Amino acid sequence: MSKIYIKTFGCQMNMYDSARMRDALGTLGYETTDNPAEADILLLNTCHIREKASEKLFSEIGRLNEFKLIRAKEKKNTLIIVCGCVVQAEGAEILQRAHAVDIGVGPQNYHRLPELVARYNRKKGRVLEADFPADSKFDYLPKTKATSASCFLAVQEGCDNFCTYCVVPYTRGCEYSRSADEIIQEAKDLVSTGAKEIMLLGQNVNCWHGDGASDLGELIYRIAEINGLERIRYTTSYPSKITENLVRAHAEVEKLMPYIHLPIQSGSDSVLKAMNRLYTASEYIDIIGRFREARPDIAISSDFIVGFPGETDKDFEQTLEVVKKVKYTSSFSFKYSPRPGTPASLMKNQIPEDVKTERLMRLQTLLLEQQKEAYESVVGKVLPVLLTEKGKKDGQLIGYTPYLQSTHVSLDDSYLNKIVSLKITKASATSLSSELSCDITK
Ligand code: SAH
Ligand code: SF4
Ligand code: F3S
Repeated sequence: MSKIYIKTFGCQMNMYDSARMRDALGTLGYETTDNPAEADILLLNTCHIREKASEKLFSEIGRLNEFKLIRAKEKKNTLIIVCGCVVQAEGAEILQRAHAVDIGVGPQNYHRLPELVARYNRKKGRVLEADFPADSKFDYLPKTKATSASCFLAVQEGCDNFCTYCVVPYTRGCEYSRSADEIIQEAKDLVSTGAKEIMLLGQNVNCWHGDGASDLGELIYRIAEINGLERIRYTTSYPSKITENLVRAHAEVEKLMPYIHLPIQSGSDSVLKAMNRLYTASEYIDIIGRFREARPDIAISSDFIVGFPGETDKDFEQTLEVVKKVKYTSSFSFKYSPRPGTPASLMKNQIPEDVKTERLMRLQTLLLEQQKEAYESVVGKVLPVLLTEKGKKDGQLIGYTPYLQSTHVSLDDSYLNKIVSLKITKASATSLSSELSCDITK
């Protein structure tokens, strides 16, 4: 059996894509392996979002090439395939600079991998496929299978928002929504092969506008009807496009988890304007209020960028003020990273690195305090936890509460991939400890 090793960088959409590339190459008989030394295909799925993410690419190609060279001495052929957002942005340069790479494929072309691999094996020619095709890759991908009890499902892809700092509209192309029927069929395929939880994905998931439902909220109501599916999540939402249906779903759909990732990026209206984010800080706070009214215990998380060009101390203080008002359960925060081809990278008033570092530290200290409070607030409670992974220690499992807080528990593998009632016994800033409450498993 031929083997494929996949290494994924970047967001959940990239993780989903990696799973679908595995499905596509499965049609040629490839099986995945965790060991690059035994792989016939070494596949890197790349991310372009910040400078650091892209920089990793060449060192990773070098690392994988060592396996390719060792295998060549054993007369074994190995293909290195590079996919993802860096390929979309800089594919030709990658192939020029890294001779070890055999095939480059952008995020909208990976359904063609079986054909490209077959073509390469016949002619041994290097190929790059990074155009935006007229057809959707989803029309060509084979049926998928669950690889865990919690699976991703892309419902929407691409972005028309053009925030001035962001490469995604260039790497993923314009917004595209799959039809509700296609999504429901994929959800059923995942559930019938073991999925209990589905995370609906989109670069702006709440901008979903496919056939078969009026908006993401209605789509969630339809997906919730699938027998055997226990939990629904969705990410990432864009703040100004929240519909009443979506808010109501949080009050009415039991399977919809009480969690929303709603990135504000900055608490300053002038920075938001310069970022081309289409809401103000107070509108954002109002939206959070609507969610909390519908589902008082909903956990809120966000992304933040500090040191955007022109961000003053006062602007940054406004971000801290919003954080204090909202109280986040968890968050991601980044120093602004100028990206090639984006308007913000050409703005004159770039912020010095040391100022960005200092602001990031202050913001992260506050966010971590809030996260710790959120973790401590569930100690003593009994919560349904979906146990999805084995822990580092034998006899330990890891899972997620409805609020997407990670918890570990001493239980044997028979509990893996089940929803189990756990009593939360202890909290640290990033994790919870728990014990079996009563043996209600699903
Ligand atoms: N579509 C989502 C975000 C996708 S990118 C949204 O609009 O919220 C994920 C996160 O990466 C962003 O929320 C942002 O915080 C961060 N990010 C994007 N471009 C960045 C850049 N140039 N520098 C630093 N962080 C960036
Ligand atoms: Fe990037 Fe903005 Fe689109 Fe999010 S909404 S993907 S940050 S351009
Ligand atoms: Fe990175 Fe592309 Fe996702 S740039 S964050 S992998 S959409």
